[in-house]
Amino acid sequence: MMRELLWGGATASSQYEGGFSEGGKGLDTQDVRPYLPRTSNATTETRLLTSSSVARAKEDIERGSGNYPFQRGTMGYYHLDEDIQLLKELGIDIYRFSISWARLFPEGDEEVPNESGLAYYDRVFEAVASAGMKTFLTLTHYAVPLNLVEKYGGWTNRRLIDLYERFARVVFERWGDRIDYYLPFNEINAGYFSPWNGVALPKPEEGAYDQSKVFQSLHNQFVASARVIRLQREIAPRSQSGCMVAAFCYYPHTMSPEDNLLKLRDEQVNQWYPVDVLANGVQPYYMDRFYREHGIEVDIEDDDLELFARYSCDFVSFSYYSSSVLASEGNGEQTAGNLVCSIRNPYLEATEWGWQIDPVGLRTMLNAFYDRTHKPVFVCECGLGARDVLEEDGAVHDPYRVEYLMRHFGQIEEAQRDGVDVLGFIMWGVIDLVSAGSCEMEKRYGVVYVDADNEGVGSYRRIKKDSFIWYRDFICSYHETWTKE
Ligand code: BG6
Repeated sequence: MMRELLWGGATASSQYEGGFSEGGKGLDTQDVRPYLPRTSNATTETRLLTSSSVARAKEDIERGSGNYPFQRGTMGYYHLDEDIQLLKELGIDIYRFSISWARLFPEGDEEVPNESGLAYYDRVFEAVASAGMKTFLTLTHYAVPLNLVEKYGGWTNRRLIDLYERFARVVFERWGDRIDYYLPFNEINAGYFSPWNGVALPKPEEGAYDQSKVFQSLHNQFVASARVIRLQREIAPRSQSGCMVAAFCYYPHTMSPEDNLLKLRDEQVNQWYPVDVLANGVQPYYMDRFYREHGIEVDIEDDDLELFARYSCDFVSFSYYSSSVLASEGNGEQTAGNLVCSIRNPYLEATEWGWQIDPVGLRTMLNAFYDRTHKPVFVCECGLGARDVLEEDGAVHDPYRVEYLMRHFGQIEEAQRDGVDVLGFIMWGVIDLVSAGSCEMEKRYGVVYVDADNEGVGSYRRIKKDSFIWYRDFICSYHETWTKE
């Protein structure tokens, strides 16, 4: 029996809210990422911060200078009621948003939360419920209080597990009865391929990351996830817990056995490792050899393994934008992807940002996740990043976005016919946001346009794009037809 899907839209606090110092909010790891005009290495520089770039950002903040897009997001903090009304008119069933840890605990290690932060999220939860939408909460979406990086070394330190649990306790005690689905972490595998975003780890001033630190941090986030699930089951039992990774749908570059093996190994380390721990409750066998061969040392306690086994999540989820190609010999033309690079796939078209559009890959991923875990699967992020134009007549015509959505929705239906238990689809950046990868404003995903540019110049007025009408009508007729069947 096919399940009636939930259709949703998503934002993340750092990319959406702005108001970075409102109500006593502390600085976090996203507030200090600068906008750098697009050049070959601008994206890397703004993604992988070093301690000296953080120090520079703090000086800029003191002086009130510099261009730090996450400090303003798309001003959601100031447009809350209007935005929720727009989402209500859109008719989505479920809204995914995240809580800014530094709004509740400005330094991250206080004993008690910040009242003004609590009051803000009281308003958010209330508005979402009054609009009749379900809540899909991401406890943290990349943004970590900066003090926790400077004082404890970010997620390398197990102390963060306790502090994170304290933060989660406040969330569940206060809003637990309103949370339908939640994720302890956004794209938990980001720690591996984008350590500043994923695990709040600064890049060394010279040379590469210490992989022991990267994987220790990831392990600590796994423990934190399991402890949060334990806590939620005690105090907010109606919520459903998930785990989430960025899914890449890898293809081997050639038919060579080496390319095929590389695909398997990369998929294991990059995509399945968190899923095996958090959904299947096991520390997977393949990581031992990977650690050994790369000289990686991770402190894994016996109690951690028991936690994984006892507190695995209820559903699995992933973000999916494009697919990737891997080659053992590193040849082939490169293109970009979600925080990673890939080889160009001649069978696919790519967006202006080089992300290869592959709707069939979504069906493949849905099958792969279900096959591996036998748990219901939520597509909790997907969408098209494009340079939309606000026309003179005040309209935004985005037929390319409608086409992208239609083709991906078709493949979700195919996956359901394959027998995959799909929970729903959540469109990324339903209201335009600052891009997480490149800090640009002009890479837009929304069905609601926000009038602002890369420099933060603009009215921040909200304008419905053509795709708004299409998505609204699609959701409405989907449910009408479903009820009639
Ligand atoms: C995912 C993140 O990696 O991809 C989002 O969870 C992000 O935060 C999205 O915005 C799209 O990436 P980008 O770089 O185009 O914003």
